[in-house]
Amino acid sequence: MKEKINSIKEEINSYSGADSESVEFFRVKYISKKSLINDLFEDFKKLSVKEKKELGKPLNELKTLAKEKLISLSIETSKEGSDDNKLDYSLPAEDDSIGSLHPLRIVRNNIIKIFRDIGFSIEDGPEIEEDWYNFTALNFPKNHPAREMQDTFFISKDPDIVLRTHTSNVQIRLMEKQKPPMRVIIPGRVYRNETVSAKSHCFFHQVEGLYIDKNVSFKDLKDTLYYFAKEMFGSDTKVRFRPSYFPFTEPSAEMDISWKNGWLEILGSGLVDPNVLKNCGIDPKEYSGFAFGMGIERIAMLKYGIDDLRLFSENDKRFLRQFRGAH
Ligand code: DAH
Repeated sequence: MKEKINSIKEEINSYSGADSESVEFFRVKYISKKSLINDLFEDFKKLSVKEKKELGKPLNELKTLAKEKLISLSIETSKEGSDDNKLDYSLPAEDDSIGSLHPLRIVRNNIIKIFRDIGFSIEDGPEIEEDWYNFTALNFPKNHPAREMQDTFFISKDPDIVLRTHTSNVQIRLMEKQKPPMRVIIPGRVYRNETVSAKSHCFFHQVEGLYIDKNVSFKDLKDTLYYFAKEMFGSDTKVRFRPSYFPFTEPSAEMDISWKNGWLEILGSGLVDPNVLKNCGIDPKEYSGFAFGMGIERIAMLKYGIDDLRLFSENDKRFLRQFRGAH
């Protein structure tokens, strides 16, 4: 037994291995119930009193040695890292993966909040649309240039099914099924058959607004949009309305905001054309309303000084990361 104790002692002293597997191997071999040392204790019971006196101490010392070795092996393992927990401090820092809101989402949320605060609700509608909703009911003349192939993506011809070119389609869908008064905004994606460049894209985002009630006037339109401009761009913002043309509004106006030293157009608007109300079964003698539509990309570009539309859809982390924390 004396030789066994000595040889195990040597084994333990020279044992090395600092990963979790070798620590476990050590534990099973020298410490566990089935360990070599445990076997020696079993044998010890059968020894004579004289032998017990001689071997008790070295055996107990062996047990202590094994325990201490296990502790020091474990400490080493956690310091240096086991195979599955190895830290290489020389590696470059990992790219942090916390996401951020997309700038278009931030601007969309801002717009929604501003209108929600003054009683507008949020609606949406289909992006694949019938000609009636995208054009005809909105009072587009039969051969209006906007219907031409260069502007519109057609899903099918006859019946004409298109990718909606604006969110105004949802105005019609809502007026067809709801009774006034109604006060809604409609954020959504729209499509145009345009060459992709810094200044134009084949898809982008709009927010449409629609307000129908008795005696809605152009003054209501101006007050609402002036309020919006100040909330969105700051209380010093000035607005200017210029006459314009849209088939679905009469009169129509574009709104500019004061920007740096000049003016910038940010939306189209107008009083809903009586023909449009009629197309939706609403009596224009009883009700009137205003509508407006703005591009989310355009507002985001102004707010954040972005000069290329393509950045919004490339998902380049270097671009998106700059909006971290913004809301
Ligand atoms: N639909 C128009 C566009 O895409 C924007 C627009 C202008 C919407 C005037 C409106 C409006 O509701 O009244 O360019």
